[in-house]
Amino acid sequence: MTTVELRTPEALADAERWTAHNYHPLPVVIADAEGAWVTDVDGRRYLDFLAGYSALNFGHRHPALIAAAHAQLDRLTLTSRAFVHDQFATFCRGLAELCDKDLVLPMNTGAEAVETAIKVARKWGYRVKGVPDGRANIIVAENNFHGRTTTIVSFSTDPDARDDFGPYTPGFTVVPYGDLDALTAAIDEHTVAVLLEPIQGEAGVLVPPAGYLAGVREACTANNVLMIADEIQSGLGRTGRTFAIEHEGVVPDMYVLGKALGGGIVPVSAVAADRDVLGVLTPGSHGSTFGGNPLACAVGSAVIDLLRTGEFQEKSEMLGRRLHDGLRSLDGIRSVRGRGLWAGVEFEHLGGREACERLAALGVLAKDTHGSTIRLAPPLVVTEAEIDLAVDRIRQILI
Ligand SMILES: Cc1ncc(COP(=O)(O)O)c(C=O)c1O
Repeated sequence: MTTVELRTPEALADAERWTAHNYHPLPVVIADAEGAWVTDVDGRRYLDFLAGYSALNFGHRHPALIAAAHAQLDRLTLTSRAFVHDQFATFCRGLAELCDKDLVLPMNTGAEAVETAIKVARKWGYRVKGVPDGRANIIVAENNFHGRTTTIVSFSTDPDARDDFGPYTPGFTVVPYGDLDALTAAIDEHTVAVLLEPIQGEAGVLVPPAGYLAGVREACTANNVLMIADEIQSGLGRTGRTFAIEHEGVVPDMYVLGKALGGGIVPVSAVAADRDVLGVLTPGSHGSTFGGNPLACAVGSAVIDLLRTGEFQEKSEMLGRRLHDGLRSLDGIRSVRGRGLWAGVEFEHLGGREACERLAALGVLAKDTHGSTIRLAPPLVVTEAEIDLAVDRIRQILI
């Protein structure tokens, strides 16, 4: 009898040996993928119910996105913004139209886009609102997650993300998420912006109370404060709408986008706003070598083409209902939160990490967050049968 040696243990040991331990991945080593499925180095298949934290909204290697990337790789990949290239305006116009805003500023990672929004809001505060120099303040929410730069972790309330990285950037006030009175009370003459996730992802897919986002919009308008929606994880079809904030009929002053904008191929992020806001930036005041590069723009334009059809938003809404109904029918679950194909599931007697390990052993990949919660965010190309399969696997780990 011959025994087949598995490649996974050595690949895990190598990764452990050669990298900083800033992640605690599940013991799965992925080699290839298509649609909602990935295959590991030993040929085992898994249903991907994390989708790169929503960076893979259109699934792994969506044919239209891969074709756009291939075509662009054969023509032009990088110019820097010192020159204009022929993919730039198409992408920026497409995204501006999708957001119904005048202008777009492309960057790369989500954190860079958030930094961009912060800088724009501060400059707008000084140049347009008339806030005294150095006094601009931005209101953010408890349990926020907006990225990992030193400025962004300065207003994180998660000790793992924040501790030992000071000195911290001043100019932020933290208020409880979902508490409109607290937010309104925190606004003063130096407030330039409110920065919020319309649904808090990392915190466990927390949906704010009905009317909260509309109330924030009203308070911002009444006080000449910019409302910034960080839709990096919640946007681009994830919740059954192009933007999660649409569920409340709210239009922010600035959208911050990332993740799925790069189609799971390249990092692409952006902010979108009207001219009276983004127009405060002048040559030399902000930039990025890779932001808006030809490959990113070609893929980003193909992503926008997919979103224009509305098909993914519709699918997310319809299949999301199936996912949420399926999860709610299970015993052993304390709560199910979320919208569309996005769910935070809290178990009664099972830790999130343990749940994810058991699920992986049954061929479904998900990610724990904060103790007993797991996050489910399958690619929007998932089928009804795949949703049912994942729900059934969750039922099995609860037995
Ligand atoms: C809401 C939100 N904002 C910002 C970020 C940061 O994005 P990136 O990891 O691309 O810097 C994330 C990442 O998870 C996010 O979920």
